[in-house]
Amino acid sequence: MKTQYADVLDQKIFKVVTQAAQELQLECYVIGGFVRDILLERNHKKDIDIVAVGSGIELALKVSSLLPHQPKVQVFKNYGTAMLRYKDMDIEFVGARKESYTEESRNPLVASGSLQDDQNRRDFTINALAFSLNADNFGALVDPFNGVADLEAKLIRTPLDPDITYSDDPLRMLRAIRFATQLQFTIVPESLESITRNAYRIDIISGERIVDELHKILATSKPSTGFLLLHQTGLLERILPELTALNNVEEVEGHTHKNNFYHTLEVVDNICPNSDDLWLRWAALLHDIGKAPTKRFHKKQGWTFHGHEFLGGKMVKKLFARLHMPLNQKMKFVQKMVMMSSRPIVLAQDIVTDSAVRRLIFDAGEDVESLMTLCEADITTKNPKKFEKYHKNFELVRQKIVEVEVRDQVRNFQPPISGEEIMEVFKLKPSREVGILKDAVKEAILEGEIPNEYQAAYDFVLAKAKGMGLV
Ligand code: CTP
Repeated sequence: MKTQYADVLDQKIFKVVTQAAQELQLECYVIGGFVRDILLERNHKKDIDIVAVGSGIELALKVSSLLPHQPKVQVFKNYGTAMLRYKDMDIEFVGARKESYTEESRNPLVASGSLQDDQNRRDFTINALAFSLNADNFGALVDPFNGVADLEAKLIRTPLDPDITYSDDPLRMLRAIRFATQLQFTIVPESLESITRNAYRIDIISGERIVDELHKILATSKPSTGFLLLHQTGLLERILPELTALNNVEEVEGHTHKNNFYHTLEVVDNICPNSDDLWLRWAALLHDIGKAPTKRFHKKQGWTFHGHEFLGGKMVKKLFARLHMPLNQKMKFVQKMVMMSSRPIVLAQDIVTDSAVRRLIFDAGEDVESLMTLCEADITTKNPKKFEKYHKNFELVRQKIVEVEVRDQVRNFQPPISGEEIMEVFKLKPSREVGILKDAVKEAILEGEIPNEYQAAYDFVLAKAKGMGLV
């Protein structure tokens, strides 16, 4: 752990804060994530939290007046905080406070307090660490809860009784799990028990704040750590019941199916080394959610999940809406990935034909690589022979995608002969026949009966139109 942090605190901004505090005759400290990340030698944050024993707003205004160009100060009177931007840093000033929260809401009743009061009301010992910015002991570490020892032992622990800390702001239960996943720390047992006891209180937290934490868990290199903790504590059941519904294995007449919850977590972990795309990771997380409601047992076929991709896609939209996630292109992308999630696998289980690959590119368009990445991650079979076979076939599919693309250009497919031209040539009004002819051209190209070229398409339409008695 880093003990030489003097260089970080040597920046102009901290010196100016010290001067401003001296002029206002108040104490101030840099606190929270910035301190934690310096001590962990993580890339330290560009968000800096400064706590003043007194008015944070006054301190911010004074700091601004002492800086070149006097940066604009944004004041949030209701919260007693103020923020300014200096170089690439966002610096937030807050007056030290003791807070108590009401049972039903997370809006605190705020009263000013000492540094110790302020540290008491923070979420974790590792986030309650502070460096003094006061002239007489500049740089001294203030660590009333042995946060440094917890950093060294890699522990997530609350400064107060966890039942108090978590009920003050139930989002902290998710934050504990998120930090444990990001930093590969362990949540101490009494905290984990408290989260389990208080899990129901997550219901008062807005979807936006919950999703923020889920994004951060998904952005780690091993999200399953977080999702297993969410599951173990009962939080997942409340946040994403679609996932916990996958956690079972049924047996009828000796036939079982795989546990799709644990399979899903494997898929999410598998995709991480191959893609940083947060939304593709969401797609991995949700790709099988349609399996719980579509599961059936048939005497002949055993367990089936017919239509789970389509239903799963519909469930994605509902889930996004429930969590107040954007219902925009990102949602559509996740939906499309879920709906198409079995396509390349079916393809890779069989002989990989050109026409199947053309159809895949046609349907997936720009997202064909993402889909392939998802489907490769979906191979979790423990049978080494099958594992190798599927991966080899996927390699073949990828090669064919390149070949077919160069040759046939079906991505963003535009038929070489348009509906307008068909109407003109055959003197047709907009009608069912025009649709039939257009579809027939598309099918012929995708099936490889004709090349994706104008003349071939024209001749084909002519022949087809004759067959239909149109000429
Ligand atoms: N904090 C808290 N309870 C919360 C949120 C934040 O006690 N629900 C305190 C912690 O001391 C935290 C600080 O406010 O360190 C700043 O919060 P934030 O910027 O959200 O998190 P960081 O800890 O800085 O880390 P990250 O940016 O990774 O979220």
